[in-house]
Amino acid sequence: MLFAIIHLIHLLAAFVYGGFLFTDILFLQKMQKITLPGEEGAKCREAIMVHVRKVVPYALFVVVGTGIYMFPHVFGKVGPEGLNHLQIILLIKAFLGLWLGLRGFMQKVFKINPWVFKSHYFPFTLVVIIIILSQLMWVL
Ligand code: HEM
Repeated sequence: MLFAIIHLIHLLAAFVYGGFLFTDILFLQKMQKITLPGEEGAKCREAIMVHVRKVVPYALFVVVGTGIYMFPHVFGKVGPEGLNHLQIILLIKAFLGLWLGLRGFMQKVFKINPWVFKSHYFPFTLVVIIIILSQLMWVL
C-alpha cells in the first residue's frame, strides 16, 4: 500500500515538473519570441515564473525522493547472470533523474548552474527520455 502511494506521488510530481517544462518549451518561449517579444514578454514570463519557482523545484525534489524510495523495491537482486534489462534501463533512468535532481538542488539552494544545461531544452529532452525509459523497462 505504501509503495502504491509513493508511486502515485512520484507520478503526480513528475507530471507537475515535466508539465512545466512542456509548457515552457511549447508555449512560453514561443510567446516571448513571436506574440509578445521584448519587455512585455519578459514581464509576462516573470509574472508566471514567480509562481513556478514556488512549486516546480519542490516537485522535482519529490520526484527524486520518491524515486530513491522505490528504487530498491523495483531493482531487486542481481542474478548470477548479471543485470537484467529492467535493471539496466532502471539504472540509466535513475542516473538521468538524479542528474536532473542534483542540478535542480544546486540551482535552488546554492544558486549555481553546474552541469551543462542552462536552457530548459536539455531537461525537457531528459524528461521525455526518462518517461520513455520508465515504460520501456517493463517491456524489453
Ligand atoms: C525528473 C525525473 C523523473 C521522472 C520524470 C520520472 C518519471 C517516472 C515515470 C513516468 C514512471 C512510470 C510509472 C508507471 O508507468 O507506472 C516512473 C517510475 C519509476 N521511477 Fe521515476 N522519474 C524520475 C526520477 C526518478 C529517479 C531519480 C528514480 C530513482 C532514483 C526513479 C525511480 C523510479 C522507479 C523505481 C520507478 C518504477 C516504479 C514502478 O513502476 O513500479 N525515478 N518514473
